[in-house]
Amino acid sequence: MDSPIADPAAQTGDTLELRDPYPYFAARRREGGVFHGTVMDYSRTPESLRPKDTYAAVSYSAVSSALRNNRVFSSALYDSTIGVFMGPTILAMHGARHKAHRALVTTAFKPQSLMRWEPEIVRSICDALIDEFAERGRADLIREFTFEFPTRVIARLLGLPEADLPFFREAAVAIISYADKVPRAMRASVDLKDYFVEQIEQRRRTPTEDIIGDLVAAEIDGEKLSEEAIYSFLRLLLPAGLETTYRSSGNLLYLLLSHPEQFEAVRRDRDLIGPAVEEGLRYETPLTLVQRYVTEDTELEGTAIPRGAVLDVCLGSANRDENRWERPEEFDIFRKHVPHISFTAGAHTCLGLHLARMETRVALHCLLDRLTDFTLLAEGDPHIFGQPFRSPNSLPVTFDVLR
Ligand code: HEM
Repeated sequence: MDSPIADPAAQTGDTLELRDPYPYFAARRREGGVFHGTVMDYSRTPESLRPKDTYAAVSYSAVSSALRNNRVFSSALYDSTIGVFMGPTILAMHGARHKAHRALVTTAFKPQSLMRWEPEIVRSICDALIDEFAERGRADLIREFTFEFPTRVIARLLGLPEADLPFFREAAVAIISYADKVPRAMRASVDLKDYFVEQIEQRRRTPTEDIIGDLVAAEIDGEKLSEEAIYSFLRLLLPAGLETTYRSSGNLLYLLLSHPEQFEAVRRDRDLIGPAVEEGLRYETPLTLVQRYVTEDTELEGTAIPRGAVLDVCLGSANRDENRWERPEEFDIFRKHVPHISFTAGAHTCLGLHLARMETRVALHCLLDRLTDFTLLAEGDPHIFGQPFRSPNSLPVTFDVLR
């Protein structure tokens, strides 16, 4: 199969297609690195909530420059978008305040922790999930695996009791679907706040060695973090850490299942798992764009942008820039490694990138350790879709169990 998401109607690039926005991105790139307009799908956004003036950075160089200039292209925009649900998050902070908060939470994701989490948490969760469907010889890997494992991983890293998993799962789904169901997301946001406040209070009484325990013990300039700073960060971990990871691991599995020769190569040589994870993130990033607020009249790659505009920073387009990659529209795990920009760059570079890579690597190892002869079934027309979040609608597969 040449292109796993081939859709003849979407190949002209004249309009943004949710199933395959990449021809549209390529067409815009041919006109320059930045254009006056948007790559967002605002079709379901009420008129009153749409930004008045938008520009979009689509070349790798424009995307990278914008992300590295947080003073002019400010992430404070998030205060008026996801901040409404999440409260004040480090995503929207800048300068010294951002640095201090980020330094604190970075310690929770340190390499020593990752080394411990890999066998104790991630591998054991993936194995337990595979136990639940292996003997059936078929499964929907999205519903039964890629959504469930990062949810359980985050719950364990936070130190939440097993019995609270159903509540946590439901609240997570509600909060990450905020664009579709605003009242439900608002309710989930309040429920999660109340829930996390209780967890914080428990740890103030009895310290624990988990991320919530670390945050409760943490101090900035001799001062403890406020309750609001802690629960807002914890809520942010749902869209930031769970949604991206479940979508990106689904994307990788879809790409490997629809390129069986590359999947077979990975099965034979596990050293290819690392390159496959990176190529999956480049070719089908789970989040195709982030947005910035323009704080002063400026210019980006020759395009003048006025103060007050919103800039779409199109990671998906940058990842397929023909000036950076040969044959960018091909999924090829054997290609020469050139870093993608799916975790962004600059001050707000993803804090969980090592965890995300490790989770996806371990998930693939576990599947290959236990199962073989995967076949992607055509039922339900599995395909990757969405903008700005992308992932497969389903991944119905059959397989054999390795004995
Ligand atoms: C493949 C998986 C992931 C992708 C593609 C991804 C992508 C991103 C992107 C694009 C940003 C920057 C947003 C912006 O600049 O506007 C970001 C920030 C962030 N990510 Fe991730 N992420 C992933 C997994 C994770 C995980 C597993 C965690 C933690 C559990 C995490 C935690 C964060 C946090 C806390 C930030 C905010 C950093 C800051 O503002 O300084 N992410 N991520």
